[in-house]
Amino acid sequence: MNFCIYLIVFAFIQLETIKSEETIQDLKTKIDELKSKLEELEKSHKVYPKVKFFPLNDQKRILITGGAGFVGSHLVDRLMREGHRVTVADNFFTGTKSNIEHWIGHPNFELINHDIVNPLYIEVDEIYHLASPASPPHYMYNPIKTIKTNTIGTINMLGLARRVKARLLFTSTSEVYGDPEVHPQPETYWGNVNPIGPRACYDESKRVAEAMCYAYAKQERVQVRIARIFNTYGPRMNLNDGRVVSNFILQSLRNENITLYGDGSQTRSFQYIDDLVNGLVSLMNSNYTKPVNLGNPDEYTVHQLATIIRDMIGNRNEIIMKEKMEDDPQRRKPDITIAKEHLNWEPKVTLTDGIQRTVEYFRRELNKNKNNQHNGETSNMHNFYYLSANEEVEVKNKNYKIEL
Ligand SMILES: NC(=O)c1ccc[n+]([C@@H]2O[C@H](COP(=O)([O-])OP(=O)(O)OC[C@H]3O[C@@H](n4cnc5c(N)ncnc54)[C@H](O)[C@@H]3O)[C@@H](O)[C@H]2O)c1
Repeated sequence: MNFCIYLIVFAFIQLETIKSEETIQDLKTKIDELKSKLEELEKSHKVYPKVKFFPLNDQKRILITGGAGFVGSHLVDRLMREGHRVTVADNFFTGTKSNIEHWIGHPNFELINHDIVNPLYIEVDEIYHLASPASPPHYMYNPIKTIKTNTIGTINMLGLARRVKARLLFTSTSEVYGDPEVHPQPETYWGNVNPIGPRACYDESKRVAEAMCYAYAKQERVQVRIARIFNTYGPRMNLNDGRVVSNFILQSLRNENITLYGDGSQTRSFQYIDDLVNGLVSLMNSNYTKPVNLGNPDEYTVHQLATIIRDMIGNRNEIIMKEKMEDDPQRRKPDITIAKEHLNWEPKVTLTDGIQRTVEYFRRELNKNKNNQHNGETSNMHNFYYLSANEEVEVKNKNYKIEL
């Protein structure tokens, strides 16, 4: 009997030993798998675009508000390549991480998810203050928030500039001239803005922001620079931002008819993004403290632009006229004498070259979307992309809470 019990216990112990040996073996295999995964990860270092080397003391610490947007992300590229330390503060209202993802993780780069309506406390030498919705559908979407961003947001950035003694460049707009009665528009022109029209939330808050910059300059000795930017286009512009360039390219690539608002005789001047970035950096580094127009003075009617884009993409669709938009300016063309004289700056990229590069970008983005290759990352406004106008309104009404 005792012998039987001994046998059972012995068999049980043997069984347990075999089991735990199997478990140990399993664990060893898993550890080996994890080890090789870790090795793979260590090998696959992210490759960043080349940056210049600067001794730490010569590097500037630069804040770019709105740096995840169209203009901001190109400015980030330029300043990072020059070897500076760049911090982006953005609330991703219209900007996206994908615009700047190639810098994420770089030791000179930092991204802060921050709404500039709230104060920001960091140490910097220069501030490029761009954060603001920029295209009509975006700034009209939540007019109160647009006003807050340009007024309270600008006060916050000026306060930061004062505290840390940084120079601040504010990106104002040609819209401060409203529907101009002077042509082309020099910086001395005071403008013709409807203060209660649909564009007022943007135009007037940019005008107030300019006034704030000069109040801080006078009273608090903050160094300010003001760029009045005219229509700018290029890769990374929002596909559905409702502007003529993106509308026409999108419609042509989708083989749809092109729609014009008005009779198409209204004129615009179109500046390629690289030219603007050169102008912004030159202005920041110059001693000129009054507002400076940055735009391309080559003037085209909207109808001409539609034809150029349609012919470049190569379809024969119709150009259809629709009713003119309220307060849509008839003529816009910058007088860039000051930029030429004081910054030694003028645009270099021709419209056909610039449009060609932009069309290639739009084509790639549409293909990504078609092949479901988009990384799924969106800005708040991008959620409505690639929907028809009616669908867009429906989605907005259903899902989108307006945050003031
Ligand atoms: N693109 C043009 O043709 C043009 C013309 C005139 C002026 N501007 C000015 O240039 C600047 C950049 O314009 P863009 O074309 O790159 O527009 P954009 O919409 O692509 O970029 C604006 C960026 O600001 C961010 N932003 C908006 N509100 C914010 C807030 N409260 N806090 C933090 N971030 C916020 C957005 O998420 C986005 O990344 C804007 O100030 C605009 O008024 C642009």
